[in-house]
Amino acid sequence: MKTKILNPENFQTELTSVWSFPERGNWATHNSKYRGNFAPQIARNLIEKYTSEEDNVLDPMVGSGTTLIEAKLLNRNALGLDINPNAVELSTNALNFQSKTKSKQKAKLADARNLDFCKDETVDLIIFHPPYLNIVEYSKGTIEGDLSNISNIEKFCVEIDIIAKELYRVLKPGKYCAVLIGDTRKAQHYIPLSYYVFQTFLENSFILKEEVIKAQHNCTFSRKWANSAQKYGFFLIMHEHLFIFRKPKKGEVLSKFKWSMKQKPKKS
Ligand SMILES: C[S@@+](CC[C@H](N)C(=O)[O-])C[C@H]1O[C@@H](n2cnc3c(N)ncnc32)[C@H](O)[C@@H]1O
Repeated sequence: MKTKILNPENFQTELTSVWSFPERGNWATHNSKYRGNFAPQIARNLIEKYTSEEDNVLDPMVGSGTTLIEAKLLNRNALGLDINPNAVELSTNALNFQSKTKSKQKAKLADARNLDFCKDETVDLIIFHPPYLNIVEYSKGTIEGDLSNISNIEKFCVEIDIIAKELYRVLKPGKYCAVLIGDTRKAQHYIPLSYYVFQTFLENSFILKEEVIKAQHNCTFSRKWANSAQKYGFFLIMHEHLFIFRKPKKGEVLSKFKWSMKQKPKKS
């Protein structure tokens, strides 16, 4: 495939907990055609910060292959999974460009709920970007196991819980799992989907390293809802949450990072 420029010009590493990319990166084979794909700047920042060359990156819901393209450019090995054959084909095609690096990247048809083909503690970084319930219906109900078929938060989090367990198993101790997730609205009320997903990861022994607020731009839904927002008096959601979790090291003391809100502190 013919590429425009291979690497970004003037790429700036993010230094704060608020990320905003009004200009989506379009270097190499990136494009914005796949609904709900993330900006390559997200994958690039995560890969550069949390991995070294030839480390192993896993994207369990790879969509159009954004993570794989960045892994190839940055010389990281990477596996991208998707339950939708269309996404696997798009990702495979997106990897069809020349690069001088030695690492390997691959897109594979698989269900993120079952990573039996991945050995325990072999992954250095996970970049996980699930559907936001059924806001974008990727397979329109035609593929069983596609999380974008689910509109109910409890049912969605049952599946997220299964995936979080698998991600925890395959991640090396001390390494990072980044989760990008947005919220939604029902009956004009804010539904904090991200915090239910966040809670599910904490329940699966991950600890929080960072929370980044990512500003949204050029969002189809926001344009569609702009008039209703004014009429019914609610705010348009223009941000997503990027939770960066860490798997604790073996025997690590966690009392500094973890506490239970259910146990009331004793009165002194
Ligand atoms: C938000 S998109 C990911 C977009 C991606 N970050 C990109 O930049 O193109 C979510 C993806 O999850 C996939 N998906 C949904 N359920 C899945 C499952 N159980 N296992 C693997 N992939 C799944 C969908 O097919 C969709 O491509």
